[in-house]
Amino acid sequence: MRRQLVIGNWKMNGSSASNTALLSALQAGLGETDASLATIAVCVPSVYLSAVKTQVQNSPIKVGAQNLSQYEQGAYTGEVSASMLAELNTDYVLVGHSERRSLFGESSEVVAEKFEAALKSGLTPILCVGETLEEREAGKTMSVVSAQLKAVIDRVALNEETQYIIAYEPVWAIGTGLTATPEQAQDVHRGIRDLLQNSVSQACADRVAILYGGSVSAASAQALFAQADIDGGLVGGASLKAEDFLAIWRAASNT
Ligand code: PGA
Repeated sequence: MRRQLVIGNWKMNGSSASNTALLSALQAGLGETDASLATIAVCVPSVYLSAVKTQVQNSPIKVGAQNLSQYEQGAYTGEVSASMLAELNTDYVLVGHSERRSLFGESSEVVAEKFEAALKSGLTPILCVGETLEEREAGKTMSVVSAQLKAVIDRVALNEETQYIIAYEPVWAIGTGLTATPEQAQDVHRGIRDLLQNSVSQACADRVAILYGGSVSAASAQALFAQADIDGGLVGGASLKAEDFLAIWRAASNT
């Protein structure tokens, strides 16, 4: 049985004061958790990693970064390396979020390099994949998602021990209030698992957690997470409100 996960993506939001308040509210709402409940994590701007890690140290909340450099070290002004994130005991790092791909020109090859860099430093990369509305309407959803995934499979020798997560986030559903229907999402998640089964192994396909992202809300979460191949959510906007994020985490925990 795969454990459900709910991961918040704060994007470029927050301040020291608002982060403290949000995390306090989450900690108060979580209460006692155990392994039968969903994993909960927040991916925060890198400058806050250290403070957030300290605040959540006695709680079940795990912490991730939103990006990393593909390079190990050197003259890359403004970049943050995998080993720097690892030094802060960062649990997860998003790679290939659609905003990175579209606004900052990250190709699938660069995303694969970042995925590899994360693994080398012992971080768990969360590989984000997803199609635009145009691509969906042209019937290209699975070919786009497959190509994004293949870039990683071609670069990294994935096996049963590899710690990573996949997030399917249709670009047209991110921050728009439009959510893929549970059936639309399930189809793509199944397709991702089939691709892993055919290109890597059955065990890898069975083991990997595949999250859905794109306007996940307290109202849409339960039906999405009830799908056979959806193992939780990557949550943007709703992760900035403790009440909403907790409701989504509860939906995952009840699945
Ligand atoms: P959203 O963002 O939940 O606000 O749509 C999801 C994401 O970009 O990861």
